Amino acid sequence: MKDTPIIEMRGIQKQFGRIQANADVDFTLRRGEIHAIVGENGAGKSTLMKILYGLYRPDAGEIFVDGRAVAISSPRRAMRLGLGMVQQHFTLIPIFTALQNIILAKEPRQFGVLIDAQQAEEKITALATQLGFDVPLNTPVESLPIGTQQHTEILKVLYHGADILIMDEPTAVLAPQEIEGLFNCMHSLKNEGKSLIIITHKLDEVMAIADTVTVMRRGQSVATSLIADTNPTALAEMMLGEPLIPTAVTRERIENPTPMLRLENVTLSADSDTGMGFARFINRRSRKAHAPDSRELGKHHLDEIDLEVFPGEIVGIAGVEGNGQTELVEVLTGLRRIHSGSLTLNGERIAHIPADRHRHGISLNDRIDDNFIIGHHKNRRYCNRGMLRRKSIQRAALNALDKYHIQVGDIVDRIKVLSGGNQQKIVVARELEGRPELIVAAHPTRGLDIHAARFVHSRLIHARNRARAVLLVSAELDELLQLSDRIAVMYDGKIVGIVKPSETNKQELGALMLGLN
Ligand SMILES: Nc1ncnc2c1ncn2[C@@H]1O[C@H](COP(=O)(O)OP(=O)(O)OP(=O)(O)O)[C@@H](O)[C@H]1O
Ligand SMILES: [Mg+2]
Repeated sequence: MKDTPIIEMRGIQKQFGRIQANADVDFTLRRGEIHAIVGENGAGKSTLMKILYGLYRPDAGEIFVDGRAVAISSPRRAMRLGLGMVQQHFTLIPIFTALQNIILAKEPRQFGVLIDAQQAEEKITALATQLGFDVPLNTPVESLPIGTQQHTEILKVLYHGADILIMDEPTAVLAPQEIEGLFNCMHSLKNEGKSLIIITHKLDEVMAIADTVTVMRRGQSVATSLIADTNPTALAEMMLGEPLIPTAVTRERIENPTPMLRLENVTLSADSDTGMGFARFINRRSRKAHAPDSRELGKHHLDEIDLEVFPGEIVGIAGVEGNGQTELVEVLTGLRRIHSGSLTLNGERIAHIPADRHRHGISLNDRIDDNFIIGHHKNRRYCNRGMLRRKSIQRAALNALDKYHIQVGDIVDRIKVLSGGNQQKIVVARELEGRPELIVAAHPTRGLDIHAARFVHSRLIHARNRARAVLLVSAELDELLQLSDRIAVMYDGKIVGIVKPSETNKQELGALMLGLN
């Protein structure tokens, strides 16, 4: 029958310790549609999709594929049923090439012993061309940009014959122009008759790409609607279970003549290596890092950057991904050494909310409470004569969890079991609660639901009002315009303009970001 849903999930339940991640969820996917799933952090979205993809077994409930009851006991079984999943955190093997990753079956025996790599490469190249992807197949994926890694994941899933594509927050890590590319790709897959599920926190994306949307709240599916019949406000209210009330945070005027951070003529050449830069001098007040002049070194990642951030100020950094923002953050947090110019920090404690939480923000296999003391492990409160003070660590962790509304089963669980948004909230809580003098926040609300994102915004303004200096890198112009006292726009490694939010708009910022001024 044509009208039989391609996927139907009924009464799905899944419990993790004390947490009921899915409590009686129903979900229906129709053939050839793009179906969005939205909901607060921890609502159970990823859990539901992991059950569908055979990564978790449900405690109760039924799944029908094309009208037939099935037990999806493993991803391998799911793949046989035509399902493919691009997970919230990619599962590629970093040192393998894109091609190896794509060919690599999750269960090696499925493809026998011999793989005809050349034939595979031809097939994959054709697939990539069709989708408009430009993936260097013989490059190790660890050296590919995040957008290209995602293309690799999508190619992998399609190469393994998926008809139903599940994508868990695929846009969270992408720059705006990459999101457009992804949506084009989703449309062409839909036109080929594939069915797609996308999880996202951005309601404008839901409105732009989806045909249907399902809202989850606290482990339940609370509504399913055609996109034509709904709007972002209604969706937000269904997600929260209450109207979304704007939170007003007042900005106080802070006068302070001495910058917390000053960059003068900072240059970082493109052929630079990573190395220790700035943060190693962390114990000395008012430290300065100088570097020899090396302007002859070709193209620059950072080109004569002059910038000051004062206590009590949020300076936003706008720019199209890849114009030096990442390098700027790396220089400030000690991951890279500058080639010329000078950096001065007039304080001792830098907080860093990194863009890639899995690489730099948390220790996935460690306990939740231990993740709270990363970077603070020398603090007397947590460690005395080389001995960890467990009680004290747990108390601090519990306080932060409470303050940031982070839901966990048990604080001794490994952090990797937490939902993506909850992991991000832990990084933000740890960094902001450590009483930093300078906060370097890269995409601090990535992966957070509307509520949580607003809360983080209010914490950043609060820090600013308490005379902290904040450098905020974000891909979201709304976020920058709303939070910043000044916005510095980066283009091609340079700061091409510094503007006040009250005196600019998205069009002007957009033009500066493209180097058009
Ligand atoms: N393997 C696990 N062990 C313990 N708890 C888990 C596990 N997986 C998920 N949880 C918990 O179950 C709840 C639902 O998690 P899930 O990952 O499904 O949320 P989500 O809706 O995808 O949230 P986010 O928007 O933050 O990604 C969360 O409280 C999460 O921490
Ligand atoms: Mg999730």
